[in-house]
Amino acid sequence: MKIVKVKDYEELSQKAAAYFIQKIKQTPTLTLGLATGSTPEGMYRYLVKDHEKNKTSYRKVKTFNLDEYYGLNGTDKNSYRYFMNQHLLHHIDIELTNAHVPYGDVQKSDVECATYEQLIKQHGGIDLQLLGIGANGHIGFNEPGSSFESRTRVVKLTEKTRQDNARFFNGIDEVPTHALTMGLGTIMESKEIVLIASGAGKKDTMRILLSGKISPDFPASVLHGHPNITVMADEEALAGIQI
Ligand code: PGA
Repeated sequence: MKIVKVKDYEELSQKAAAYFIQKIKQTPTLTLGLATGSTPEGMYRYLVKDHEKNKTSYRKVKTFNLDEYYGLNGTDKNSYRYFMNQHLLHHIDIELTNAHVPYGDVQKSDVECATYEQLIKQHGGIDLQLLGIGANGHIGFNEPGSSFESRTRVVKLTEKTRQDNARFFNGIDEVPTHALTMGLGTIMESKEIVLIASGAGKKDTMRILLSGKISPDFPASVLHGHPNITVMADEEALAGIQI
């Protein structure tokens, strides 16, 4: 696990974006895994800025998002499809049919999950996966206790995650109780992973992650078994941690 320490959120966003841009330039047909949440917003802003200024092209890029709330349609402003459209996809030249987010408003969620797995496989797997990390160590919506072998599936969200995400909704009652998420096994098959973390709120999370202890109680600890992972985090998130 390679650790890159940066000064603050701005530098994190800039550095992470620069890394992705360089990879896309090297391989214009790259398949990216993408994440939602507050942390990647700044990075997406830099990707958009770069696309406008330097014309980095996403015409042949494919993307797969980690997760989606169960029950939400992509037009719902709290859906992750909507988030991706607003923060990135509508502002770059990607073919929207190449930008995948699990469908949340499906009758047969198990069929949707199996289809999503299949689609990733058909594309030859994910080349470069972006991850945020939840305060409880979740990646995607793989909550504590998730199997390290898990695949894309429907999961029940913990109360902690629902509370953390309630800030985007009109109160906790509106936060969905379930989500569709790539599994830890799915994520681990990505060829390369970049995890980003920022702010004092992630300090304890980073301390646990970087302690090196591996347990399903802290899902992100599975990443210690990945051969090509970089953790980029700012000074606040890494405060007090010896690197
Ligand atoms: P955040 O979420 O970027 O909003 O902190 C991270 C996550 O829950 O994966």
